[in-house]
Amino acid sequence: MHKDLLTVEDVSAEDLQIMLELAARMKRDRLDWHDQPLKGKSIGMIFSKSSTRTRVSFEVGIHELGGNALFLDRNDLQIGRGETIQDTARVLSRYMHGAVIRTHSHSDVVEFAKFAHFPVVNALTDKFHPCQILADLFTIKEFSGKLSGVKVAYLGDCASNMGNSLILAAKLAGLHLAMASPEEYRPDKDIIEHGVLESGSVSWSPDPKEAAKDADYLYTDVWVSMGHEAEKEQRLKLLAPYQLNESLVACAAPGAMIMHCLPAHRGEEITDAVMDSDNSIVLDQAENRLHVQKAIMTMLHNDDWDRLLSKE
Ligand code: CP
Ligand code: NVA
Repeated sequence: MHKDLLTVEDVSAEDLQIMLELAARMKRDRLDWHDQPLKGKSIGMIFSKSSTRTRVSFEVGIHELGGNALFLDRNDLQIGRGETIQDTARVLSRYMHGAVIRTHSHSDVVEFAKFAHFPVVNALTDKFHPCQILADLFTIKEFSGKLSGVKVAYLGDCASNMGNSLILAAKLAGLHLAMASPEEYRPDKDIIEHGVLESGSVSWSPDPKEAAKDADYLYTDVWVSMGHEAEKEQRLKLLAPYQLNESLVACAAPGAMIMHCLPAHRGEEITDAVMDSDNSIVLDQAENRLHVQKAIMTMLHNDDWDRLLSKE
């Protein structure tokens, strides 16, 4: 594993395999897990954007691994009054043992990680949301028993942190990812072309039904991501044909599962009927954030985490 987890590209295929196995054991044995790789360690949670799942799952997970989570609202730090990222990272490195950061600019997290002497985890930037996508890979594997060759259709804002992260995840895990959006919210060409696509595939279409055809999973996210509120009216208008509704579900493979990273804006990107259907696994996705992030923290903060896997 790299020192930091800033994008899915920091995770190798081997790291992913270990992470998913470790997370599965942590989920199964949650009440009977005695290893505490964060014992005596303090992890700073520096957040500049709202959060329900990420904040709570990290705080609970850090506690369960024996550590102490310090929630640091950006506006309470001197960074909110102009202290540099570089100085903040170096000072916090004298007190803490890790950081989990949610902010706007991805380059801010990259800069913080460069000057921090401890592991840094990206808890969402405008560009990437790796913890969500790694947990989603775990969830898909839980339901399908495999990742390679599984078809995932992603509908909506393909130029978002979720769209970008899904593309990288498809390359890492060999998914067939079919994306659909209006021209204005097409996936990032550089991210599609970056790195090697050893298996799986990434495609884009302006037609949501074409992307959804025969999909094993239908995935969507909000149309107005945090920070894009000023474009709300245009986004709601252009993205309306990409709503995850029953007529789109009918195009997918029989029994296709419904995914959403949440929070959902019901009635916009997803209907109540689809979100609450028997095939909706959105709550499993939310729960799995906890288990996968515990595996991530264990791998980043413990040199002999492979010992945990060799125990049985
Ligand atoms: N999915 C997700 O990251 O949710 P929060 O914004 O509530 O953390
Ligand atoms: N794309 C969404 C994800 C929220 C978890 C956002 O950035 O607001």
